[in-house]
Amino acid sequence: MRISKFLSRSIVLAVIGLITTTANAQNAEANLQALFAKSATESSGNREYVPTEENLQARKEFEQKRFGIFIHWGYYSMPGQGEWVLTRSNVPVDEYLALASAFYPSKFNAKEWIDLFKEAGAKYMCITSRHHDGFSMFDSKYTDYDIVDATPFKRDILKELADECHKQDFGLNLYYSHVDWYRDDYPTGWSANEYNNLKKHEGDYASYYKFMNNQLTELLTNYGKIGGIWFDGVFDHRRDSMDWHFPEQFDMVHKLQPTCLIANNHHRAIQYGEDFQIFERDLPGENKSGFGNAGGVSELPLETCQQIVNGSWGYHLNKMDCKSPAELIGMLISTAGKGANLLLNIGPRPNGTIPEPAAESLRGLGKWLDKYGETIYGTKAGDLSGQSWGSTTRKSDKLYVHITNHPGKDLYMPLDCKVKSAKMFIDGSPVKFDQWKHGIQLQLPDPADGEPVMVIELTTTTK
Ligand code: GLC
Repeated sequence: MRISKFLSRSIVLAVIGLITTTANAQNAEANLQALFAKSATESSGNREYVPTEENLQARKEFEQKRFGIFIHWGYYSMPGQGEWVLTRSNVPVDEYLALASAFYPSKFNAKEWIDLFKEAGAKYMCITSRHHDGFSMFDSKYTDYDIVDATPFKRDILKELADECHKQDFGLNLYYSHVDWYRDDYPTGWSANEYNNLKKHEGDYASYYKFMNNQLTELLTNYGKIGGIWFDGVFDHRRDSMDWHFPEQFDMVHKLQPTCLIANNHHRAIQYGEDFQIFERDLPGENKSGFGNAGGVSELPLETCQQIVNGSWGYHLNKMDCKSPAELIGMLISTAGKGANLLLNIGPRPNGTIPEPAAESLRGLGKWLDKYGETIYGTKAGDLSGQSWGSTTRKSDKLYVHITNHPGKDLYMPLDCKVKSAKMFIDGSPVKFDQWKHGIQLQLPDPADGEPVMVIELTTTTK
């Protein structure tokens, strides 16, 4: 019913067009209508996605980065109970909405954030431009429920961050929620359940879809180069058969910015239009988070998102226990060892600053990356990963052995390449080893004080 309404409206839209005020908007509208018309005549399931050359190049560059910062931030940071407070804590919706008019992150400073992320050794960030509560952290002309119109702060946070990212040549990706707990035209799904005060409604998906595409068009036209869009929310309609019309939306994104990489956090196999694969709180191929790994591991660039504190993405006063630099280093090593980028999440405070324990740990990670970054950035998955002693990464004939759990004197590594030499990465001092038929036995030096990881560089025959 909803879908047929969607399609007939699409056809009507395609035929009659809408009156728009600016030339840009007219173009965007024309593109959108063409896509809607397409969706009426073409089934979304059986088209083949052929990425452009520039998109393929962007994927390569993205993979090289290996480390990014995820930021969950909105006015939901005010009660300090994470980004799901509206639904999980069963708070009155009107009271929640009223918080927006008090959101004034007086200490927000885009430069200080990017400076810190760079100091941490990150190469890009991904920020929630709009999370499930539907609040836009950017100035959108398609809603008043945004940072400029609905808060006394009145500054376009995303614009300030985007300008700073571009100035400092720092990658910018945007999280964008497909779920919306605010708009009446969003067809409510699983997350509006008996445990919260959200009103259930059928919605009008055609109208909501158009809203999302209008906003995506704003994000991809007003904020310079966007490295990727990180979509999230499929879970909300897992139990029904809603057709989200992703292929047309993703085509639109690629048309607006061919190098903008798309990922969708659905925990399933890669689908049409996606350029990299997301793993939520799991390494590729593992399923510790319970989100399942039904899709296996694709050939696309991989990214694992993790939290710097345990148990929350958004600022949470009860979940401030921050991972230490050594834990973060271990996390980065095991992620890179699987050939994936680490997207490490922080939840800024309502005043716009980053909690000090998180900042401290990030700086600690950055100090390690200053010395060992070469063994992480631009590498591929190593020949061995997820071992009891650690993991490896590879860059052509160099195999970097990251020992996070020193096993004592000797370390046997099964390898199907020959090792020509072995040395300590940090000072080049040689490491003795025996080459056996199916691997090598390294004679490890004692662990150095204060070094959480021992890194040995092997030069090998390439496989
Ligand atoms: C889940 C949560 C969401 C969070 C995301 C990050 O989808 O619903 O709040 O943004 O994970 O991976």
